[in-house]
Amino acid sequence: MPEALERAIFGMHATHAVHLADRHGVFAFLIAHGASRTGKIAAGTGTDAETVGRLLVALRAFGVLEGDDGEYRVPEASIAYLDPSASRYAGAFVRHLVGSTSARMPQLDAYLSHGKARVDDKLPDPFDVMYADDAAVEAFVSAMWQLSFDVSGELVELAGPAMAGHLVDVGGANGPFSVAALLRVPDLRATVFDLPHVAPHLHRAREAYRLGERLAFAPGDFFRDELPEGDCVAFGYVLSDWDDDACLALLRKARRACRSGGRVLVMDRLFDDDGHRPLATAVMNLSMHVETRGRHRTAAEYVGLLRAAGLTDCEVRRSGREKHLVVGRAPAGGE
Ligand SMILES: C[S@@+](CC[C@H](N)C(=O)[O-])C[C@H]1O[C@@H](n2cnc3c(N)ncnc32)[C@H](O)[C@@H]1O
Repeated sequence: MPEALERAIFGMHATHAVHLADRHGVFAFLIAHGASRTGKIAAGTGTDAETVGRLLVALRAFGVLEGDDGEYRVPEASIAYLDPSASRYAGAFVRHLVGSTSARMPQLDAYLSHGKARVDDKLPDPFDVMYADDAAVEAFVSAMWQLSFDVSGELVELAGPAMAGHLVDVGGANGPFSVAALLRVPDLRATVFDLPHVAPHLHRAREAYRLGERLAFAPGDFFRDELPEGDCVAFGYVLSDWDDDACLALLRKARRACRSGGRVLVMDRLFDDDGHRPLATAVMNLSMHVETRGRHRTAAEYVGLLRAAGLTDCEVRRSGREKHLVVGRAPAGGE
């Protein structure tokens, strides 16, 4: 069997194995103790030796772990993603894939037969479904923090002088972008505009980073309410949740809320120009189909939306990671 096909077929085992090794402290143990044998790992993590042994063999076969002479270790390059205390730690995102996304993937079956519009006709807003209870909100915003906080430092640098005055972080969740911006730009203040359920999570981040009054929360629904006014209006992983019409409506609101000459920032995954790569964008595009009403786009598609909303001087600035910046300028009144 071709290797690519084999990896695709057994991808489900890989996701679950990574999730379970994370959940039972296997990666944390290996990162703390270095190369170890199965017996030591089982004793150190309090796991069943036979089961953890099988898990380790599978993880090594996928290349998630390295090892020789019966020992296993986490490859150096993966430590930043598998160490629960690291800023790029991917555990909460993998938990979201296993706990939420995988339960929704079978929905694609009905979409293939009847189309999403018909199947989802009577469904409520995707975030009403996603935020079923406090635990679900917590799980979602934790996953967002992990996806967004570390890369946000680079996005703040890419935004440059746009990061001044008052930042309005639309759908800013528990503040991964706002917090990163406030930590880097001393005179900046930020308002996260998001659904009311998110407030306690933003307040926790504000306390953890001692940001006091520099970080505010404005509860609201961005489809019903106008956005708070600011010098810079940011959308991080928000437009990929919605179809083009909804994105246009949001960008027009952002244009109205943004001071003349201020910037509107779109920060999101980007498809390469051919619309096929990278792999993470291609598969997350399937996730967006089952979890939201959105999709991933090329840089040119985002520029097209910004221009259609009346924003000018659009530029694409790519980070070294998976989340990039597309920026537009709010024209002076009457321009
Ligand atoms: C995918 S998350 C993005 C979080 C964060 N900006 C980031 O970059 O990681 C989308 C955010 O949009 C918020 N959101 C969804 N629908 C909304 C609405 N109607 N009004 C305001 N915020 C909304 C969600 O609560 C969530 O925080």
